[in-house]
Amino acid sequence: MVSQFSCAGIELDLYRYPKQQDSNLQAWDAADEHLIKHIVDEKIIPTKTAIINDSFGALQCALTHIDAAWPLVVETDAKTGLLGALQNLTDNHLDQVNISRYNSRELLPTDTQLVLMKLPKNLTYFTHQLQRLSQVLPEGIQVIIGAKAKNINKSLLALIEQNLGPASASLTWKKTRVITCVADGKVRPSVKEVTWPVDELSLTISNLSNVFAANKLDIGARIMLDNMPKGEFNTVIDLGCGNGILGLRAAQLYADANIHFVDDSEMAVASSEHNWQLNQLPAERGHFHWDDCLTHLDSEISADLVLCNPPFHQGEAITDHIAWQMFLDARRRLAPGGLLQVVGNRHLSYHIKLQRIFKNCKTVASNGKFVILQARK
Ligand SMILES: C[S@@+](CC[C@H](N)C(=O)[O-])C[C@H]1O[C@@H](n2cnc3c(N)ncnc32)[C@H](O)[C@@H]1O
Repeated sequence: MVSQFSCAGIELDLYRYPKQQDSNLQAWDAADEHLIKHIVDEKIIPTKTAIINDSFGALQCALTHIDAAWPLVVETDAKTGLLGALQNLTDNHLDQVNISRYNSRELLPTDTQLVLMKLPKNLTYFTHQLQRLSQVLPEGIQVIIGAKAKNINKSLLALIEQNLGPASASLTWKKTRVITCVADGKVRPSVKEVTWPVDELSLTISNLSNVFAANKLDIGARIMLDNMPKGEFNTVIDLGCGNGILGLRAAQLYADANIHFVDDSEMAVASSEHNWQLNQLPAERGHFHWDDCLTHLDSEISADLVLCNPPFHQGEAITDHIAWQMFLDARRRLAPGGLLQVVGNRHLSYHIKLQRIFKNCKTVASNGKFVILQARK
């Protein structure tokens, strides 16, 4: 992994989180560099600055490097993004006392003077972020958004204008552009979470804006739901829970089981908890964890079933390192004899990984596109 960041006279050593990972992905991209170059070229002076969607802390590190007293307000939905930023600030000996942290559901302070933002892949989430900014930013505050040039077009600028204020894009540099939006001071209501019924399971599902499978069941989740393992289970982990659909079904099927919902996205964990309540499941059996895989799960939790529909991308990058980490963590957290059940696109060949880690792997169902695999500890 390339870790030497060098841009606009700023040198940093930046890693993704976790640091040791089986991928060659970098902790920043050219849009981060463009935003930092913009700050330096425009001689923007340190003033209370919000940073949103900073993948692994490149923007926080660069601004703190320019001036250790730069007041920063950082909004993060991904736990890996938060942990990565903390790690990179520490590794680069940068002070964190001037950084306040917010999750993706909290409103940023109304005295924010400048906003730096990376364009997320999910435009519904982006719209929600703009609406939330419109609820706190006074008229005239600049919001500078970095993105790949190919993702910037008239309709994106119109979306920004509609939800926050007029926007224009810079010239292209390293295939990226920065958009400057000026908040118009008009408050927009936030999008409502999307709610839909899964009639055949008598469940109602609700998703916040950054949660996987926006308004219908994922096809992989559906085949998993049709093939839930039979038996009695006491402790179940829904690993990468999204809206919690797999864990909710497990709560219905395994009458006394404690269900642990884990996701990197804070909104996903919040949606799972909301869905638990919405479906009137007993409070004492549902447990909710915002975590990078099972890194920080209480060591006393030992599962007899882990259900997992792993992601195969992180932001814009296609990667299988999270699936690897999920399978390794599942093995570590399963009690002897415990079961990991995975659903995946057939072409991802998860059976090779499971066979390597567990020394066994069984295909329990498949269709043209997906396979359901089981591995026992
Ligand atoms: C394919 S979705 C599955 C969601 C849900 N379980 C379902 O079946 O509809 C994968 C989920 O993994 C989560 N995820 C990604 N990276 C993660 C990580 N490092 N630790 C925990 N969860 C992660 C994503 O936020 C996403 O919700």
